[in-house]
Amino acid sequence: MTTTRKSIHGQWSNRLVFILAATGSAVGLGNIWKFPYIAGENGGGTFVLVYLVCIALIGVPIMMAETMIGRRGRQSPINTMAALAADEGRSAGWVALGWMGVIAGFLILSYYSVIAGWALSYIFRSASGAFLNVTSNGINSIFTNLVSDPEKLLAWHTIFMVMTMIVVARGVKHGLEKAVRFLMPALLALLLMTVAYSMTTGYFMEGVRFLFTPGPISGQGVLIAMGHAFFTLSLGMGAIMVYGSYLPRHTSITQASVLIAVSDTGVALLAGMAIFPIVFANGLEPGAGPGLIFKTLPIAFGHMEAGTMIGTAFFILLVFAAWTSAISLIEPAVAWMVENRGMNRIYASVYIGIFTWLIGIGSVLSFNLWADHTWSVPFLFKDKNFFDTLDFVTANLMLPLGGLFIAIFAAWMMKESSTRDELNTHNVVYRIWYFLVKYITPIAVIVVFLNVIGVIEL
Ligand code: TRP
Repeated sequence: MTTTRKSIHGQWSNRLVFILAATGSAVGLGNIWKFPYIAGENGGGTFVLVYLVCIALIGVPIMMAETMIGRRGRQSPINTMAALAADEGRSAGWVALGWMGVIAGFLILSYYSVIAGWALSYIFRSASGAFLNVTSNGINSIFTNLVSDPEKLLAWHTIFMVMTMIVVARGVKHGLEKAVRFLMPALLALLLMTVAYSMTTGYFMEGVRFLFTPGPISGQGVLIAMGHAFFTLSLGMGAIMVYGSYLPRHTSITQASVLIAVSDTGVALLAGMAIFPIVFANGLEPGAGPGLIFKTLPIAFGHMEAGTMIGTAFFILLVFAAWTSAISLIEPAVAWMVENRGMNRIYASVYIGIFTWLIGIGSVLSFNLWADHTWSVPFLFKDKNFFDTLDFVTANLMLPLGGLFIAIFAAWMMKESSTRDELNTHNVVYRIWYFLVKYITPIAVIVVFLNVIGVIEL
């Protein structure tokens, strides 16, 4: 059956715009800030390998499934799930998947915005020449000064949330195309310059070896690598689903998904290759945690030709990358409020933005006043503060769980005729996709979960 639903929010003008928007959502702090620091904390090599395998075997198929579900439903994830469950004769309870996504989106954005705030403040640090010839001690104290001051962090967090609300209020399609078309290549160019600097440190091969030589990894490490595959591709909470709902029919979901995954992974690996040589050249700790890029990249900018300008441009682009990701984190919620509450986009964005901003205050305090307020949950995690807990619960539990249910819905609940019709791809590609989504994704997610809680041992 071919469905003919239309989105009340409009459509992308063509496939390229969808690819740009989805790439804008995927490429963000996850690639440049998070990937290097969690790879560092989890020993490099094997972690990177598990992450790459998860991108290929879970990420790409789930991206196809999410886009397909979104395009078929043509509404916010909550209403899309309700509509498709009804189409396919399944339980109305599937809307819960949409709800979990909306909640995960709020929670992720609440801390994402705080980190984006660090990048904002670094634009001004860099422009003022503070990184010129900076030493590792110097940059350490610049970073510590920033994060130990809750008022500063709150101010930057507020600015970033306002920026996000403005774009979402105007409608996600507005201006996104132009922004992403120009900014993504520029970010790539500056990242390459930083990698080039890293090659001059004499520690380039140490960095590469750290990233690609297999070593020991914990069960937690495997979970974090899998969770990051979802996080970095924006999967498991409906962001890609809502972007899929604006996608015109007759565009290839397969090609778009592969292209997005490849670009996203490329940016992450480049970021790793830029950062680890600097880590080793300056005797820093690979496992330094969330501050890692903020303590290493300035050293590169401080020592390269025209570094003040390049560094400033880099942090501007990083903020843009975070911005295009942030808007996709609340678009599902805003689309739902517009559909069900008949609210206009402006009010919807403001309500949701304020709510998210409030939760973000917890993360602001996690780097200073509440840094040592930690707690543990048996089998799951030990000694995590507010920020660490939110990050763990959203990225490593909610997203994989969302992905698991998306896979189950696409492969086990939807009729094969529906998914075939909507994906509209080559038969062999369809077969491979179907196999991965039906068996590999669910088994992988369940096995990794069971391993972490100690029911089985990998
Ligand atoms: N993928 C983005 C990044 O890597 C973050 C992000 C945007 C995201 N939208 C999402 C993460 C939806 C999970 C779900 O920075």
